[in-house]
Amino acid sequence: MSSHSTPWQEPTEYIGKCYDRNRTVQRIYLDHNATTPLLPEVADRMSAVLHNEFGNPSSVHHFGQQAKAAIDEARTDVANLIGADPSEVLFTSGGTESDNIAIRGAAEALEPSGRRHLIASAIEHEAVLNTLKALAKRGWKTTLLPIDQSGIVDAEALRSALADETAVVSVMHANNEIGTIQPITALATLAHGRGALFHTDAVQSAGKIPLNVKTLGVDMLSMSAHKFYGPKGVGALWIKRGVRVLPLLTGGRQERSRRAGTENVAGIVGMGVAARIAASKMTDEGVRLAALRDRLEAGILRAVPGTAVNGAREPRVPNTTNISFDRVEAESLLIALDLEGIAVSTGSACSSGTLEPSHVLKAMGFNAHRAQNSIRFSLGAMNTDAEIDRVIEVLPRIVEKLRSLTRTPARV
Ligand SMILES: Cc1ncc(COP(=O)(O)O)c(C=O)c1O
Repeated sequence: MSSHSTPWQEPTEYIGKCYDRNRTVQRIYLDHNATTPLLPEVADRMSAVLHNEFGNPSSVHHFGQQAKAAIDEARTDVANLIGADPSEVLFTSGGTESDNIAIRGAAEALEPSGRRHLIASAIEHEAVLNTLKALAKRGWKTTLLPIDQSGIVDAEALRSALADETAVVSVMHANNEIGTIQPITALATLAHGRGALFHTDAVQSAGKIPLNVKTLGVDMLSMSAHKFYGPKGVGALWIKRGVRVLPLLTGGRQERSRRAGTENVAGIVGMGVAARIAASKMTDEGVRLAALRDRLEAGILRAVPGTAVNGAREPRVPNTTNISFDRVEAESLLIALDLEGIAVSTGSACSSGTLEPSHVLKAMGFNAHRAQNSIRFSLGAMNTDAEIDRVIEVLPRIVEKLRSLTRTPARV
């Protein structure tokens, strides 16, 4: 085991936690785009809130004001992570709700103006794609931007899709399956040129790479705490001042009447602490993770024949790689790796278990085989050189075994 220690935690502590005593398997978690473990500092602060700061933030008395102050502090921390003003940050139940409020809320606010057209890229998360589908059933026109094998949206495709009635364009900042980063500033400029609003789903980039809403030039930006070592079930939507969004939930006046319901105080506070820590460690951690990811990628391509990286290698978030393994069913590889203690995924956690080829890889023009033979490795805070080397060591044997069980001819 390498003596390398991560900026987050001593590896021995992590390995101790991930050691399955009954099966004597040392577990290696490489599925951080699905979710991340809670940081101890986050859990401690949340626990203090759950135990001692139980007030309702809408209450006028001490207990309520204490909870409100905790939320305000978290709002500032989340705003700082994306270069925003705290008053423009709205807390939600996660990335899915943020995407829904942004698209449905803005679309509905713009409906009376006659703008009834929505645009998104074909590689968006289901939270965006299914929201567009739901609105299409209610008569909205929708366009999905085509994408090539780079996995990067072409500005020309957006230019030709934009129309005078386009209300909202939604293009994700970083893709959850292949990690590619989209040219958001250029795309937002085009959308604004035709009078449309621009939303970006930054669930996979917030906390991983520096983000600034002003530089991006967007109108709305979605985030989710559990992707950067915060709790599940809490997220945020940044809405630029002046942009009108109708609420999805009606009720009390919480969150400036944009999201009714008593706030998830502990979750919000946890998101704030996670945002603060992410902001302070992001630069060094990004360099460390990119080196680890590149080591993994190069090691796999070298050690396993018939492998290829899906999508452009740059610009990409530093922790993600998606690799296809010719003549290997990704689901079988995932299970074989899990038996070795290595946790990866075949794509988005939301569509796992469906055995459907990834909509992202299909949209990029890869055939069904390649889309079904691909594995996402997403690295995170506790991964070490030694863990990466172990993956590179065990993969060739597993792949060879799986290939020996299949009669499909090589397609390399
Ligand atoms: C790009 C992207 N958007 C949205 C979501 C949904 O976020 P949440 O799980 O917080 O609802 C995810 C989660 O995987 C995601 O990767």
